Amino acid sequence: VGQNLIKLSAVDSTNNFLKRMVSNSEPLPEGTVIMAENQYAGRGQVESNWHAEPGKNLTFSLLLYPAFLPLTLQFRLNMAVSVAIQHALKAIAGEGLTIKWPNDIYFGSRKLGGILIENIVSAGRIKACIIGIGINVNQQAFEPGLENRAGSIYQILHQDVNLISLLIQICSQIEASYLKLKAGNYNTLREEYLNFLYRFNVKAAYRQNGERIEGKIIDVSDAGILSMETETGVMSYNFKEIEFVND
Ligand code: BTN
Repeated sequence: VGQNLIKLSAVDSTNNFLKRMVSNSEPLPEGTVIMAENQYAGRGQVESNWHAEPGKNLTFSLLLYPAFLPLTLQFRLNMAVSVAIQHALKAIAGEGLTIKWPNDIYFGSRKLGGILIENIVSAGRIKACIIGIGINVNQQAFEPGLENRAGSIYQILHQDVNLISLLIQICSQIEASYLKLKAGNYNTLREEYLNFLYRFNVKAAYRQNGERIEGKIIDVSDAGILSMETETGVMSYNFKEIEFVND
């Protein structure tokens, strides 16, 4: 992963760019990475936008061909990528970083980054998988309204980090996790995912359908479904069905 690296100064979205390349050109080598200094139409999950200060942060997409992975088990790849990013970031920023379900990168209660995985599916199988990753690295401040919710590596270390060397470390961790998944070592990845999981096994506040509840995250399934122990028993939540509340 990352041997074939294409660096762009500006693009709408690295995910879109890679998608266009996959559909227009000769087959690209697995592990191809597109990074951009400036993404002017970066996309987040569920049709949101992803804004990052140009030149300061990592915004990149990588291409995998996980033919071994049935669509129903796709979340295993989200787990593998989230775990890989944690390992790479831990090596430079130490403890304190977590995965916020399903696959956000958190430090305390601030979001440092996110992942957007998009599949090109044909005949019910994943033909190609585009893994978009955005991490706030050297950005020092965030716009009003975001400042208490967004964070960066700079705010942890108080110094700049070299973007290319961080990218290379992340790519080599993704390669290691991906090979584990391919070799059938899903259980160890899942354990690592749960170990890095924000609020795993601790009682905390959530909001569901506008109502505040208390619960304890006890598991995340292959499909990314969150299991939570609540006063009324064990509940399962799909993406966006539950919101984290900060007291
Ligand atoms: C999220 O948390 O909502 C996911 C954010 C993903 C952002 C990255 S930046 C590189 C890649 N290209 C995009 O347009 N989005 C992803």
